[in-house]
Amino acid sequence: MPSELYRNLNVHAAVELREISRSFGPCRAIDRLDLTIRPGEFVALLGAPGSGKSTLLRILGDLDRGFQGEALVASRRAIAFPPPRLTPWKRLWRNVLRDLPGRPDRGRAQAALAEVGIAHRADAWPRRLSQAETQRAALAHALLGDPDLLLLDEPFAGLDALSRGKAQALLAGLWRRHRCAVLLATRDAEEAALLADRVLVMRQGAIIHQERIALDRPRDPADPDFARLRGRLLDWLGVVPGAH
Ligand SMILES: Nc1ncnc2c1ncn2[C@@H]1O[C@H](COP(=O)(O)OP(=O)(O)O)[C@@H](O)[C@H]1O
Ligand SMILES: [Mg+2]
Repeated sequence: MPSELYRNLNVHAAVELREISRSFGPCRAIDRLDLTIRPGEFVALLGAPGSGKSTLLRILGDLDRGFQGEALVASRRAIAFPPPRLTPWKRLWRNVLRDLPGRPDRGRAQAALAEVGIAHRADAWPRRLSQAETQRAALAHALLGDPDLLLLDEPFAGLDALSRGKAQALLAGLWRRHRCAVLLATRDAEEAALLADRVLVMRQGAIIHQERIALDRPRDPADPDFARLRGRLLDWLGVVPGAH
């Protein structure tokens, strides 16, 4: 039987997982995984498609209780999963306030949208938003809850290179200001190396490698140390056939 425990752990850790496993029929999506994330730590979960990233994030987001093991997760957590769900008949500012208690406070929505650079779109209908704006709206919504843990599942995967670069810089700034722990699932080694304090490489439901990144921020992809780091991560990701 799965043992489940969700508790507010703000003081000690944002996440504490012990021996977590999740199977779907014969497929073992998560395989006896241990993980601790410190308060305010930015962790990237790097893995190829099918390695188990989304399954792990769903467990942390309390969207899946069919796992085994013990999961302790900060109770104030926010999830920005693609595609962000926006209600089509509500203007953006009202969408951004969804799930928040109390009367809709336009000023609060406006401030949250300004923080992600789309205050001018407050009155837009969701279908009029670009993909990059929709992602920014999802971040604004997630941060309005003042989370201790922000879960992001490949948030920038569908963006063109320019929008992705801007969105990554935006996320770095938001994290610096809010200081919540972040777990960012990505298949992009460069994104992981740019943003994270620590990168976990995931394969077949297990963390096969992790490294702490000591490089100063903002990081420069042209820096030789950065290039070496990216190369190592790509090796572990399995981009180079036969590596590891
Ligand atoms: N609801 C599900 N039913 C059956 N298999 C699933 C389900 N969710 C995930 N899986 C399987 O678990 C493995 C990990 O999937 P996933 O967590 O989505 O990986 P990732 O997000 O890294 O691409 C895959 O083999 C996938 O097919
Ligand atoms: Mg996924």
